[in-house]
Amino acid sequence: MEINANIEKVLFSPEEIRARIKELGESITSDYRGKKPIFIGILKGAVFFLADLARETDLPLKIDFISVSSYGMNSVSGDVNILRGAQTDLRGMDVIIVEDILDTGKTLSKLVSALAAQGAASVKTAVLLDKREARKVPFEADYVGFVSENAFLVGMGLDYAEEFRSLPYVGILKREYYEKDGIVIK
Ligand code: IMP
Ligand code: MG
Repeated sequence: MEINANIEKVLFSPEEIRARIKELGESITSDYRGKKPIFIGILKGAVFFLADLARETDLPLKIDFISVSSYGMNSVSGDVNILRGAQTDLRGMDVIIVEDILDTGKTLSKLVSALAAQGAASVKTAVLLDKREARKVPFEADYVGFVSENAFLVGMGLDYAEEFRSLPYVGILKREYYEKDGIVIK
């Protein structure tokens, strides 16, 4: 596999990701046996993980997507607004919110309460990556692919300025790539 020249280091290979998503799908399949859950992906980062996880989950699934305002890596506001809500009536449904990465925890903690308020029977969360040391609000996901270090990651849906989402691995972006834009990430 050719590694993109802007990648410092590959953290999780396509093979590791595939194997881990298979395990997550098996857990969801057994946890939700007899139910018909709905995966709600957060656009756009969750698209790749959701597509893979759904195909490893042996249940009659529904799928929907929501879109939230991104506050940017350097913004201090941290306000999360739902720009596009689910197009499905969530009353009585078992919702699993699917997200690429859990970072400060602000997005998912807000979305769990917003979707519960729409009458969902249950709301759980599945994330491919968890930067456990970056939390600003207390939040733990129910299904976690990998715990990762607190670096700027791209691939498997994760982007920098809309680039790199389609890389089939998760890697650390080279510093010089974002420092050229004057971006500073701790
Ligand atoms: P938070 O948990 O509310 O901070 O939100 C997580 C969101 O921040 C994710 O959906 C990503 O869009 C973005 N994000 C956090 N860390 C990274 C990263 O390392 N690379 C790319 N996007 C990231
Ligand atoms: Mg995102």
